[in-house]
Amino acid sequence: MTLAPRPQIHFTPMRNWMNDPNGLIFYKGLYHLFFQYNPEGDQWGNMSWGHATSKDLSRWEEQPVAIEYTPTHAVFSGSMVVDYFNTTGFGSVENPAMVAIFTEHQHDEARQVQSLAYSLDDGQRWKRYESNPILDLEMKNFRDPKVTWNRVNECWIMSVVKPHEETVCFYESDNLKEWRLLSEFSAQGSAAGIWECPDLFPLSVDGDSANKKWVLFISVNPGGVTGGSGTFYFIGDWNGKEFIPDSVEMRWLDYGRDNYAGVTFNEAPDDRKIYLGWMNNWEYADKIPANPYRGAMTVPRELTLVTRGSEIHLLQKPVKELVTTSVLDYTFVIKPTSGKSGSRFSRSDGSSVVVGYDADTKMIYLDRTEMWFDFSTARIESAPYDWQGAEFEVRVIIDSSSIETFVSGGQVCVTDLLAPGEIPSVITAF
Ligand code: FRU
Repeated sequence: MTLAPRPQIHFTPMRNWMNDPNGLIFYKGLYHLFFQYNPEGDQWGNMSWGHATSKDLSRWEEQPVAIEYTPTHAVFSGSMVVDYFNTTGFGSVENPAMVAIFTEHQHDEARQVQSLAYSLDDGQRWKRYESNPILDLEMKNFRDPKVTWNRVNECWIMSVVKPHEETVCFYESDNLKEWRLLSEFSAQGSAAGIWECPDLFPLSVDGDSANKKWVLFISVNPGGVTGGSGTFYFIGDWNGKEFIPDSVEMRWLDYGRDNYAGVTFNEAPDDRKIYLGWMNNWEYADKIPANPYRGAMTVPRELTLVTRGSEIHLLQKPVKELVTTSVLDYTFVIKPTSGKSGSRFSRSDGSSVVVGYDADTKMIYLDRTEMWFDFSTARIESAPYDWQGAEFEVRVIIDSSSIETFVSGGQVCVTDLLAPGEIPSVITAF
């Protein structure tokens, strides 16, 4: 069997199954990416935390598996902090512990609880906390803790979900071991799926650090905007106890089919907010080819909030340090008048993927029909974009098995997997 080409600039593990990014953090000059990983096979199972590091968010080096499953428990999604003030007592102020906060999932599916593991050698060796779990509601489904140091509360804050109740719970703690419930958040009329992988974080508006808004990400599956898995978010405020959305209207982070369970790095330098998503969809994640890895991450994207007109928008842009010379990184301009216009990207076998704008319906669309497998799912995605000006820019990044589309500086994003193959070399405008 010939192996399909591996993505050039997207993180993939050397082999085996990968899903959600976990424990994203910057520490001592390195970005750490932990991820849901099956060390023994190319299907979901034996969930453990794989590990990779990068100096520049562009080249990743895979590290040994960090936190392994046990005979009774899998290690589900979670997050990572550096305990600089030694609030846990695991390390010291001179040598702070990296602390992973993750969901322990009982293999018999009876219980999910939150637990800790820590490393005193910058993420190489991991030890489980002997008094785990640190948060147990005696629930079958309770998972995906995202913990950060909160400068409003001056303590640790955890966002964690009760997936089937479509609820995010916020907790606070002084030592990562004892947690107090602050509030619960749920949204009327949300998508018809379970909630996973929440992330709550502040962002400056228009680069003004005195004017912050809070963003809450929630991944939902199924019920994503284009079917299957998707991520939506709210912009609002955090009063130290509750998240108060500006509007109850759900906004979609990505209008493609393949961006799920994404979260942001803790402690990125210069107050940057950098995001990574799992470039996949639970609807077919176990059926895409294994080469011999299965699963890839999106490119790292920097998030900002900008005011355009009367609204605040969340923009996502590939990070500036991303080196894209080995892929197709192409920007074109759309001048909407009437009908469809855009670009077609073709491989030498004649198959193509199309990104365009329909000025009549005011929709961005991405058609991957000719570069997809027949999994009997929709192959054209569209995103509403009511552009009033004369022209706007579209940037696409096409790797060997994906296309990421960033409209108007990342105000609208569409991320889709493609059937693996050559990176398109012919671009035709229409
Ligand atoms: C999201 C998810 C999480 C869970 C993990 C298990 O894709 O279902 O809720 O922790 O994957 O691998």
